[in-house]
Amino acid sequence: MFDREVYVRRRERLREILEKGVALFLGNDEAPMNYPANPYRFRQDSNFLYFFGLDEPGLAGVIDLEEEGSDILFGDDLEVEDIIWMGYLPPLREKAEKVGVKRTLPSAKLSDYLREALSRGRRVHFLHPYRGEHLLKLAYLLGIRPEAVKHWASTDLIKAVVELRSFKGPEEIQQMEVAANMTAEMHLRAMRNARAGMYERELAGEIEGLAISLGGYISFPVILTVHGEILHNHYHGNMLREGQLLLVDAGAESPMHYAGDMTRTFPVSARFTTKQREIYEVVLEAQKRAIEEIKPGVYYREVHLLAAKTMVRGLKDLGLMKGDVEEAVAAGAHALFFPHGLGHMIGLDVHDMEGLGEDYVGYDETVKRSEQFGLAYLRLAKKLQEGFTITVEPGIYFIPPLIDKWRAEGKHREFINYQKLEEYLDFGGIRIEDSVVVTEDGCRILGKPVPKDPDQVEAMRG
Ligand code: GLY
Ligand code: MN
Repeated sequence: MFDREVYVRRRERLREILEKGVALFLGNDEAPMNYPANPYRFRQDSNFLYFFGLDEPGLAGVIDLEEEGSDILFGDDLEVEDIIWMGYLPPLREKAEKVGVKRTLPSAKLSDYLREALSRGRRVHFLHPYRGEHLLKLAYLLGIRPEAVKHWASTDLIKAVVELRSFKGPEEIQQMEVAANMTAEMHLRAMRNARAGMYERELAGEIEGLAISLGGYISFPVILTVHGEILHNHYHGNMLREGQLLLVDAGAESPMHYAGDMTRTFPVSARFTTKQREIYEVVLEAQKRAIEEIKPGVYYREVHLLAAKTMVRGLKDLGLMKGDVEEAVAAGAHALFFPHGLGHMIGLDVHDMEGLGEDYVGYDETVKRSEQFGLAYLRLAKKLQEGFTITVEPGIYFIPPLIDKWRAEGKHREFINYQKLEEYLDFGGIRIEDSVVVTEDGCRILGKPVPKDPDQVEAMRG
């Protein structure tokens, strides 16, 4: 946990942005796997963590936006029966003090508090929930129907939270470094230990266990696959074979729940084949060019398009694309190979704040989401600012069903050499990803380096 002043200051800043009403943040509860007493690993809600810092179930926080220092922590002290099973935990008042909250009330009082505020004509701001239980809880607490919850959720609060959480303070950057270093260890382990004859699950389990053994957890389900062309492939049942590429997209969550996110793609054999190396170098060039371009004031949409153009240029050199580079990217032809966005914000969530709505996080009144296939998946398009932490993750994939569909439709025939593509149908996919912090005049890659230049990768694999 950070110093209490960090949380006090965050709540004060929220009060400066939103001047009227009360803001409600529900902490998460235990979520059962298969019966109530057998829960999934507990994960606190990131917004609750941001403003109230306490990493345990059964809590809620209220910030009175009109009265300084009047924040309330709702929760319950443990009974002796609970202590028998779970051990001693400090009383609610003590927990509240750790995050600078002076007032505590039992959970059972939360509904009365909120309904009274509503009856006095005060606005209760809350965020739209992403868990079904919270939808029902909010409906009960506010005395409204579950279907009405989404209409009552506060766009003003969403915007205020995005405004605050987008800028990472020095204490957060330090945590992001911790997460990135843990993430680097996971990738180094996979790159060192992958061998033909192993199953994907052996390596996936090893690096997930490593994140846990380092005191954290995974920040999202591990993607570790010889089918890198399946973008979010969570299947780990394939055997690694000589000549294949292995794509590892994995990240650790630091003990304070800041996320790491990194992707490396490397050969199962000691060396890339010529064909693999050629495509790899195109992706790497796009990633490096994008990283060079990142600085405050630049639209991330432009960086995405720069990466796309770099890839088209490289694919043209290999005979896979043709025609004018600018026109090909403007038409969206590159999306056959690069159908996703260049990156996303990262912080307490790996796709930071995505639960609040991607358009509030990655877009604003100056940049609207495109409807073009590929570009439409770009999660972050808006102007970058110092203190943003983001991922840079271009990729080139050969996705047979997509290629078949486009070829049958004759789509972008003037830019795509479908005949040459026949030689690549079993290629798979390559993605290279790092997380960076936007600095005053550029950006810095978070965490210790993990090889990505092909010679370094081969040296490690050899
Ligand atoms: N690393 C997974 C993703 O960014 O979607
Ligand atoms: Mn990512």
